[in-house]
Amino acid sequence: MTNDPQDGAPPGPDNRWTAADGASLVLRPIAPADIDMAGRFIDALSYGTRYFRFGKGDTRFSGEELAQVCTPDPDTRSHLIVVANGTTMAASARYFVQDDGTGCEFALVVADAWQGRGLGSRLLRALIADAVQRGLSAMHCEVLATNVRMQDFLRKQGFLPVSGSEGAPVRRFNRLLGRPDA
Ligand SMILES: CC(C)(COP(=O)(O)OP(=O)(O)OC[C@H]1O[C@@H](n2cnc3c(N)ncnc32)[C@H](O)[C@@H]1OP(=O)(O)O)[C@@H](O)C(=O)NCCC(=O)NCCS
Repeated sequence: MTNDPQDGAPPGPDNRWTAADGASLVLRPIAPADIDMAGRFIDALSYGTRYFRFGKGDTRFSGEELAQVCTPDPDTRSHLIVVANGTTMAASARYFVQDDGTGCEFALVVADAWQGRGLGSRLLRALIADAVQRGLSAMHCEVLATNVRMQDFLRKQGFLPVSGSEGAPVRRFNRLLGRPDA
């Protein structure tokens, strides 16, 4: 893909690449103008993917909720997306800073057709870099015990289950973050 300064992606090769099938992919922060694309993304998720991401397979977002999702408060939230061919949202990862200001909780979802093609790992790496830049020292994620794929994925990304949550229906995975200049 050519570098298009209008596509909203920060400069750098990690933010623009071409998939094996030739689709052009851009990783960038979500923006208010993405509301329709974000709605289509949520609507197209399978029941299972929606269940793993939101805890309910029939989750739907209202227009107001979508507007909030597409306009994250920069003081407390970051939301990164991958856009395919300039028109279709393929993945979303976001975090919110916790009340004590030192860590954040994140969640990640990849469109069914794009799962297993490296988007989740690339997006999570970018989200971690964003959290490090913000000065956060830890990141965690709540995962359903039945979501073995996400737990395997998290372990590969350096997250560890928090002691005590192993037998729970919802498990917490945590990762400590280094300083930006470390
Ligand atoms: C879990 C999820 C985020 C992973 O994203 P992804 O883009 O599919 O993952 P990647 O392609 O980057 O793969 C990274 C690793 O995930 C695992 N993985 C990916 N696809 C897999 C599949 N089809 N089956 C089993 N494991 C798989 C592999 O361990 C892979 O490691 P590898 O690079 O050594 O092959 C994604 O599958 C998803 O959105 N799942 C449904 C929603 C969800 O569970 N969200 C988490 C809620 S907190």
